Amino acid sequence: MKKFKKSLAIVLFLAIVLSLGACQTTKADNSREEKELVTGIFVEESKGKGGLLKLEVAFENSEIKDIKVLEHNESEYTKPVIEDLTKKIINTNSIDVDIVSGATLTSHAIINAVRDVIKKAEVTLIAKEVAQETEKPADVSTDIVIIGAGGAGLTAAIEATYEGAEVIVVEKNAFMGGNTNYATGGMNAAGTKYQKAKGIEDSPELHFKDTMKGGHDKNDPALLKVFTEKAAETLYWLEELGAQLSEIGRSGGQSVDRIHKGPDGMPIGPHLMDVFAKQVEKLNIDVRLNTKAIEILSENNKVLGIKVENLDGHTYNINAKAVIIASGGFGANPELVTKYKPELEGFGTTNQPGATGDIFSMLEKLDIALIDMDQIQTHPTVVPRINEMITEGVRGDGAILVNRDGKRFVNELETRDTVSKAILSQEGKSAFLIFDQQVVDQASAIKKYKDAGLLTEANSLKELGEKLNINATELESTVESYNEYFKDQNDKEFGRRLLNVELIEAPYYGVEVSPAIHHTMGGIKINTNAEVINNSGDVVEGLYAAGEVTGGIHGGNRIGGNAITDITVFGKIAGRNAAEAIKYK
Ligand code: FUM
Repeated sequence: MKKFKKSLAIVLFLAIVLSLGACQTTKADNSREEKELVTGIFVEESKGKGGLLKLEVAFENSEIKDIKVLEHNESEYTKPVIEDLTKKIINTNSIDVDIVSGATLTSHAIINAVRDVIKKAEVTLIAKEVAQETEKPADVSTDIVIIGAGGAGLTAAIEATYEGAEVIVVEKNAFMGGNTNYATGGMNAAGTKYQKAKGIEDSPELHFKDTMKGGHDKNDPALLKVFTEKAAETLYWLEELGAQLSEIGRSGGQSVDRIHKGPDGMPIGPHLMDVFAKQVEKLNIDVRLNTKAIEILSENNKVLGIKVENLDGHTYNINAKAVIIASGGFGANPELVTKYKPELEGFGTTNQPGATGDIFSMLEKLDIALIDMDQIQTHPTVVPRINEMITEGVRGDGAILVNRDGKRFVNELETRDTVSKAILSQEGKSAFLIFDQQVVDQASAIKKYKDAGLLTEANSLKELGEKLNINATELESTVESYNEYFKDQNDKEFGRRLLNVELIEAPYYGVEVSPAIHHTMGGIKINTNAEVINNSGDVVEGLYAAGEVTGGIHGGNRIGGNAITDITVFGKIAGRNAAEAIKYK
C-alpha cells in the first residue's frame, strides 16, 4: 500500500531560479511588509477521493505562476474540475476559491496541497482581482437540445448526430457524467455472444422475467420488452464506440450471469464516460457545462426549446425543434425523496449532488404525466457517513454479509430491496461485507476501495473480527460453514446459488455497510419511442426523455446492471427518434 506522507514537501532546487535571484528582498507594494519574495517550484502531496494526489506549484516573486497535478487517483470525470480549479487558483493567486459540487474531495485535495506548499515555502500571497463582468449570451437555435450530459444524454446526442441532427447538450454541473460517473457494476444484456461463448443460456424473455419479478410486477411491460430486446444490440453499439464489455458476472436477482463489464472488473461508468467523451469530441458536439435548464419553452402541446442559465447568472434561450430530457433522477434531493417516500428521511445517498430532479417543477406547465414517483430504491451496501457505494459486484465476486454477531443473515445475492431490509433489521442497522484476497484480485473496482482506505484488512478472520468490533469467534465459524457450503455447492442456510469463492486466502477484508438512497425508479411517463406523455395520454410534440428521469422500466425495484442498459437503450431510441422526427419539419 502506498504510504501517504503528508509532510513531504520536496523543494526542487532550480539553478535557473538562483540565477534569477530567487530569494531577493524587495518592497512589492505599500501594503506588503518587507519580505522575501519567493521564486521556485515546490511539490506537495495530499489525499483525494481515490488516495494520493501530488502536485507541483511554481512561484515567481511570490506569485503562483503554474500548478501541475503530477499524480492522482481521482475519477476521470474530475479532469475538468482539476483543470478549472488550478486555473482559478493561478488567476486569483489565492486558494480562496469555490469547491466544485460533485467533486468536493478532489477540490479539497488540491486546495489543501496548495495551502501546504504556501506554508512550506513561507510565501505571502496577495490575491488578484479578476474582472467579473460577463456578457449575456445571445439566444441560439439548433435541431435538438438535450438536458443532461450523463450517460443517457450523451448516448442520445451521439445517436442524433449520427442521424444528421445538430445537437446542443446542456449540463448544470461543471463536468459531464452525472450518476453515470459513479456506476460500477456493469450492463445487463441477454443472449450476447459473450454469454454464448461461456455456455450461458439466456434470452431477452428470461431477462424480462427476472426484471419483472425483481420489480414486483410493477414494470411497464411494453417498455420492458423493448429494453430487453434491444439490450444486446445496444451493447454491441457501445463496443463500436470503443467500450469493452466482454466480461460477465452476476448481480442480485438474476437467474444467470448477465452483467457485462470490462476487463479486470473495471468500473463501467467512468469507462463509458471516457468512451462518450471521446465521441463527443470527435463529432464536435456542443456540450455546455455549468448551464442549467430553467424552463421548457412550449406552445400548444409542442416544445420550442429551453431557457437556460449559465454560471454568471445570465439566461438565454436555446430554440430547438426537439428537446430530450436526460437530467437524471432525484436521489440527492431529500425533500423530494421524503415527499414521495417519507420512511427514507435521514437516509444517505449514493447519488451525485446534482441529482435533484429540478426538471419536475418545469413539467407542470406541460401537464406531463409522472409515474411510480414513490418507487425509490436503496442500495444495500454503502459505507455509512461517507456514502461510498460498495458495488454489488463484491458480493457477486464472493463476499458475504455478516452482522455484529459475526453471523450471516441473508442470501447476499437477493434483490436490493430484500438485502436492504435484512440489513436494516440487524443491530445498528448496518452489516459487514467480509471477503478475502481472491475477491480483491477479481476486480479493479474493489482494489480502488482498498486504495481509498475504505477496507479494514487483517491477516486472520479473528483479527478482522476484532478490528471490526464484531464477534470474532462467530465470524471464524461462519466463514468455516460458508466454505463447507462452497465445497458442497449448497448454501444450506440461505440458498445462495452462486458460491464461487472459498474464503481462505489472507489477507481478509471487511467494511461496514448500510443502505442508502440509490435509484429513483419513478419519473416521466414515456412510450416505447421515448416520447413524453401528458396527463391526457397524448404525446407532447417534440419532447423525448430517457434514463433515470423516466419511470416505468424498473417497476418497484431496479436490478443491478439494468441502469446502464436503460440509459443507453432509451438514450439511443430518444436520439434516433428525435432526429428522425425533425427531418420532416
Ligand atoms: O452495485 C452496483 O455496482 C450498482 C450497480 C447499479 O446500480 O446498477
